[in-house]
Amino acid sequence: MRNIDIFDTTLRDGEQSAGINLNTAEKIEIARQLERFGATVIESGFPAASPGDFDAVQRIASTVKDSIVTGLARSVRSDIDSAWEALKGGVQPHLHIFLATSPIHMQHKLMKTPEEVVEIAVESVKYARKYFPLVEWSAEDASRSDPEFLAYIVRKVVEAGATTINLPDTVGYATPQEYGAMFRYIKETVPGIERVKLSAHCHNDLGMATANTLAAIENGADQIEGTINGIGERAGNVALEEIAVALHIRKQIYEVETNINLKEIKRTSEMVSQLTGSFIQPNKAVVGKNAFAHESGIHQDGMLKNPLTYEIITPELIGDASTQLVLGKHSGRHAFRDRAIQMGFELDDEKLNKAFAEFKKLADKKKEIVEADLFVLLTDQQISDKETPVYKLESVQVQYDTENIPTATVSVTRPAGEVVREATTGAGSVEAIFNTLERLVEEEAHILDYRVTSIGKGRDALGEAVINMTYAGEAVTGRDVAQDVLEATAKAYLNAVNRQLAKNHVQTEATITT
Ligand code: KIV
Ligand code: ZN
Repeated sequence: MRNIDIFDTTLRDGEQSAGINLNTAEKIEIARQLERFGATVIESGFPAASPGDFDAVQRIASTVKDSIVTGLARSVRSDIDSAWEALKGGVQPHLHIFLATSPIHMQHKLMKTPEEVVEIAVESVKYARKYFPLVEWSAEDASRSDPEFLAYIVRKVVEAGATTINLPDTVGYATPQEYGAMFRYIKETVPGIERVKLSAHCHNDLGMATANTLAAIENGADQIEGTINGIGERAGNVALEEIAVALHIRKQIYEVETNINLKEIKRTSEMVSQLTGSFIQPNKAVVGKNAFAHESGIHQDGMLKNPLTYEIITPELIGDASTQLVLGKHSGRHAFRDRAIQMGFELDDEKLNKAFAEFKKLADKKKEIVEADLFVLLTDQQISDKETPVYKLESVQVQYDTENIPTATVSVTRPAGEVVREATTGAGSVEAIFNTLERLVEEEAHILDYRVTSIGKGRDALGEAVINMTYAGEAVTGRDVAQDVLEATAKAYLNAVNRQLAKNHVQTEATITT
C-alpha cells in the first residue's frame, strides 16, 4: 500500500486562528505530542514573523527527533536566512516557502506579472536549496490559478530543486472533483513531478476540506497537510484526525496507509484544545464529546444487540480513556509518578512534586480523579515556567445574593512581589471579579470573550475558564482550571495578563541581543 505523509501545521496555520496565541513552552509540548501522534512533518512556526516565533521554531527543531521540523518563509532571502538560523539544528532541516499563483493574488496582492512570479519562485527555491536539503514550495491559492500557468511554474520550481510541491486550496473554494482533477493534471503534465512529493493543503470555508483532501489522495497526493481539531484561519484547515480515521476505516476504498498512531488522537486533540483554549464542538467528527454518544432509543437498542449496527468507530480506536478512573485520594507519590510516566509526561522532580501537591488538593475536593483531570494537571505543570515574573492569585471571594449587588474581593501578588487587595462590584459575580482585577493589574485591560466549560463529566468536574482580552492594547488569551468556576475565571484572567507580560519580555530580550 502507498504511504501518505502527514504534515501537521497546528503550530503555524493553526496558531494563525483568531484568539490563539501559544507560548514557547506550550508549542514545545504540542510538538512533542505531535511526534508521538506520528506526524511526518511538523510545521513549527514562521521564524521571520517575530522573535517569539523564531525562538519556538529553534527550540522545537532541537527537541523533536522522530518528525521532520519545518518553518514557513516568504519568498525573500531575509526570511529564508532567518528560517535557516532557526532550523539548522534539526535532524533534517526542512523549509516551506510560498508564493501566490492565482491571477487575483498576483495582480492585487503581489502586484507582479506571472513572469516575475516565476522568477521570484525559482530564485527563492535555488537560494533555499543552498542551505536546506528539503524544500517545500507552495503555490498559494493554487486551486484558483490558471492550470497551465500552475503546471509551468511547478515545472520551473521542480527544476530549481524543490523537493515537495504543495497545491493549497487557500480560501477553501474548490470542490472535491475540481481539487482532485488539479492533482491529476499536475501529475500527468509536469515533467519530473515523479521525483518530488505532491502535497494537499485544504481550508474549510465551504466545509469541504476533508472531502477535498481525500480527493487529492485518490488523485495521487503523497502528503496531506492539516491541523489537529481543524483549527486555523477563518473556518480552519482540514482536521488531521478526520483524515487519519477515514483512511483507516475505509482502507479498502483509499488503499493507503499513514504512520499515524491512532491511539494518540484523543490525547493530541485534548492537548491542543486545552493549550490553545479553542473549544471542540460536541458533534465534531472523531473527537467531539458526543462523537460516540448514542441517544435515541432505537440506536441504543441496536447497540445493545450488536454495536456494529450504529458504531463505525470505537472510542478505544482513538485512545479515548478520558472517563477511566485513574487515581484516588489515597494514591501515593509513586503511583502518581508511574501514572504520569505511563501518560508520556517527563517531569523533573520539582515539577513532579508540585503536580503531586496539586493532585492531593484536587483529590480532597473531587471524589474520582479521571484521566482527563490528570492530563490537565500534568500538562499545566509541564509548561509552567518558573522564570517569568507573574501576577499570582492569592484569594478571591465573591458576595452574591439575588437581592443585592455582587461584590468581589481579590488579592494578588504583583510581579514586583507586593500583595495588593481590592474590592469592587459588578452586575454579576463574574463582572465583579473582572472589575476588581482590572484595578489590580497595572495596564489597561478589556474582556473580548469569555467561556467556561467542564473538564470530563460529572457534577464535581473541574471547571475551565478561557478568556480572550486585550492587555496593554494587545489581544491575548488566558485559561486556567479550578474546582470552582469563579476561581478558574480569576486565574484565567491573570494567566492572560502573565502571557502578555512574558511575550513582551521575550521581545525585549530579543531587541537587547540584536
Ligand atoms: O493556505 C495556504 O495557502 C497556506 C500557505 C502558506 C501554504 O497556508
Ligand atoms: Zn493554509
